Amino acid sequence: MGESMTGLKRSHMCCDINETMAGEKVTVMGWVQRRRDLGQLIFIALRDRSGIVQAVVDGNSDSEIFKKAESIRSEFVLAVTGTVALRTAENINENMKTGKVEIIAEDLRVLSESETPPFQIEENITVNDELRLKYRYLDLRRPNIFKNIKLRHDVTHVVRDFLDKEGFLEIETPMLTRSTPEGARDYLVPSRVHPGNFYALPQSPQLFKQLLMVSGMDRYFQIARCFRDEDLRADRQPEFTQIDMELSFIDIDDILDINERLIKRVFKDVLGVEVKTPFKRMTWREGMDRFGSDKPDTRFGMELKNISDIVKDTDFAVFKNALDNGGSVRAINAEGCGKMPRKQIDQLVEFVKTYKAKGLAWIVINEDGSIKSQIAKFFTEEKMAQIVEAMDAKAGDLILICADKDKIVFDSLGALRLEMARRLNLTKADDYNFLWITEFPMFEWSEEENRWVAEHHPFTSPMDEDLELLDKDPGKVRAKAYDMVLNGVELGGGSIRIHRPDIQKKIFELLGFSDEEAYNKFGFLLTAFKYGVPPHGGLAFGLDRMVMLMAGASTIRDVIAFPKVKDASCLLTDAPNTVDKAQLDELEIAVVENKKEE
Ligand code: AMO
Ligand code: AMP
Repeated sequence: MGESMTGLKRSHMCCDINETMAGEKVTVMGWVQRRRDLGQLIFIALRDRSGIVQAVVDGNSDSEIFKKAESIRSEFVLAVTGTVALRTAENINENMKTGKVEIIAEDLRVLSESETPPFQIEENITVNDELRLKYRYLDLRRPNIFKNIKLRHDVTHVVRDFLDKEGFLEIETPMLTRSTPEGARDYLVPSRVHPGNFYALPQSPQLFKQLLMVSGMDRYFQIARCFRDEDLRADRQPEFTQIDMELSFIDIDDILDINERLIKRVFKDVLGVEVKTPFKRMTWREGMDRFGSDKPDTRFGMELKNISDIVKDTDFAVFKNALDNGGSVRAINAEGCGKMPRKQIDQLVEFVKTYKAKGLAWIVINEDGSIKSQIAKFFTEEKMAQIVEAMDAKAGDLILICADKDKIVFDSLGALRLEMARRLNLTKADDYNFLWITEFPMFEWSEEENRWVAEHHPFTSPMDEDLELLDKDPGKVRAKAYDMVLNGVELGGGSIRIHRPDIQKKIFELLGFSDEEAYNKFGFLLTAFKYGVPPHGGLAFGLDRMVMLMAGASTIRDVIAFPKVKDASCLLTDAPNTVDKAQLDELEIAVVENKKEE
């Protein structure tokens, strides 16, 4: 059911109606937010994506328009034609953009009806996430979610304009391609024409953008969809979008400069926020030492301090073992937390255990300056005083200490620092703290695979001054790689690429690829590099994460029109799903029955 729009033309969006238009005839179209009946008057709040305007049906209860108005329910789709009128003083609604006016309806058409929606279409309602995502098209009608989607559009619009003016060409790269080396699991697509063969969906356009540099495109960008089959979190989706770019004949500083200016433009044009440039730069080493993280949230202090030297002669087995095993003892000072109840401190101990720490030692500095600590018995008063001094702790503070292998200490205290900031409410979402992390290590030792793996990807160039370490001490080699970090979130990352075949060969060797394997996987790139490759490098932002932070959202799901849930399924379409046997036969694919599910 539903009347036709014939002869009607929308004249305005709902929120365009204002007091300068009194007496004007208008036609608006949208969804019914609510209907209120007041005897001879029926008020209809009509909503489109611009917002809400009030229409009034005033009249004889026998009139056709009045009867129609009485039948209207929430989320019906209407066209209302009428005359704009000023509201009387006592009826003005200051909380509404159109609160000074209303439309006196003369014609009303029900373009379509609606069942009662499973949840109310309003900004501040609590609806469970599953229901929201099952009916995502209704969820998207809610103004706060719509605002995020619009914000996302505004961001990509400014990005395109900025990069265009900087000489970048927007070029699309294939979705059906070969496995790319970003380190996550691939999503595979079977080939019908080549049974038993598979395309991989790109984890990023990395190889193609490098090929485009060989082609002489000079500067490339793409708002690129990427696919990674990895465990999902608040800031990770199986498909997500990058603002991806690559540039020729540049060095690190050029890339950082362009991207700082890009961010500055985006924040200014979209949010009206003035971002200060240049951004702070911090080496990876410094990030770990001071914040226990390669993506530090620098909106607050509570920095890590290494107290290994102070405690190195101890008999306390926990600290001694950690130091003997090449680890360290580090601590943070939670200022003013000395009064934290024992129960809460115990929670913190449990918290760090999820980061593999075996425990957490604590020192409370009482108001009278005396000290309370479960490890006091292992140390002289003088040693304790030295720790307190090293931590800049004063009466009322709480020192939290972790001893273990460096990685565990950094992971634990880095996370604990964030947890304390959350509990103490130390950060504000609109306090934007940008930062570059530079000089990442080239390789990370993988205990699982018993080999070096690339920290970024295998095409990242080592730093010139570390080239000779490739043979001697690969763990110490630093890369020409950089990440942009905002408020503790990795917003983007990139690197200068290797363009010398001898170095590329060496890196592949170190990563344990044989020549044959390397050629098998990336042969097309290596071959291309034989025909004149310009020095080049690039970067990719996570668009979803950028918009999430700009929107003040807590998950990227809220800035993606149709996101997936934790188990990578889509609640709206029920993907992934089984397919017809005929389809499988055509692909020559047989599915092994999963016994567990039967
Ligand atoms: P990288 O793997 O660091 O680099 O990815 C770049 C940025 O993409 C975002 N991102 C994600 N966002 C949402 N969900 C995910 N699962 C996800 N994975 C990554 C992050 C990250 O900083 N080709 C290189 C870039 C380059 O070297 O130029 C690359 O993809 O914000
Ligand atoms: P234990 O000797 O295991 O009883 O530990 C003594 C105290 O040291 C306990 O309160 C533990 O919480 C703490 N502790 C244990 N392991 C660590 C660690 N790796 N780092 C810091 N403190 C720890």
